[in-house]
Amino acid sequence: MRYLVVADLHYALPQYDWVVNVADEFDVVIMAGDHLDLASMVDWRAQTVVVRKYLELIAAKTHLVTCSGNHDLDARDDAGEKVARWIGELGHLGVLADGQSIRCHDTLFTACPWWDGPLTRERVAAQLADASALRDGGPWFWIHHAPPDKSPTSWDGHRYFGDEPLADWIKTFQPDIVFSGHVHQSPFVSEGSWVDRIGKTWVFNAGRQYGAPPSHIVIDTEEQEAVWFSAAGVQSVRLDRPLQRPVPSLSALPGWVQGFVVRSMDQAAGPSPA
Ligand SMILES: [Fe+2]
Repeated sequence: MRYLVVADLHYALPQYDWVVNVADEFDVVIMAGDHLDLASMVDWRAQTVVVRKYLELIAAKTHLVTCSGNHDLDARDDAGEKVARWIGELGHLGVLADGQSIRCHDTLFTACPWWDGPLTRERVAAQLADASALRDGGPWFWIHHAPPDKSPTSWDGHRYFGDEPLADWIKTFQPDIVFSGHVHQSPFVSEGSWVDRIGKTWVFNAGRQYGAPPSHIVIDTEEQEAVWFSAAGVQSVRLDRPLQRPVPSLSALPGWVQGFVVRSMDQAAGPSPA
């Protein structure tokens, strides 16, 4: 299986265009929250309409898995806790989103909502416990916007901005991979990283950069490799080997990803000037 992983696009439409244009190269596209930008001059309701259309285009090309981030909250539940109702309603587009655990190909995906209060946090804990009963020996991947606390994937250069319960849930359930975002700087600052390993669990946070393409991770489970692409460079880890730090930057691209990179750069360039 080949996966494309992004997060924190924050209504950057050229980045959405790029994801739409490369989506059919992947078995699954994973967008780990923060679709909207609360600081934008564009009204958030208009943003949800536009982003929903983009997600529909991506879902028409391949499987799409996403979750809410703290910028995506548009409503309050009965207990007054903030929730991303529009993300929870993406199921009718065929998008696997908040609160769902669904098997896609051979992999069980669990998409966790952003938790803004104790009741939603308990719902996430119950969702993970319920999903653990569905495991059948195949891979189990989580999508959870905030990365685990005390991880290089949640380090912003000054302090950790991670999720403490998530770190405990990872230790309890030991999923194969957790896809996160939220701490935009982590991959780009000293002592931070786009990748971590907690026990047997790989944790990824692609980070955020401006312009297309977004910083992104390409994972191929047959090749057993994850490659991080960004304006700061390209790095990779072997999923069948222990994580080594510092993660080495690549001087040459792995052969399996070279064709994608050429097409990716074509899509990022946009239309040619007349
Ligand atoms: Fe964000």
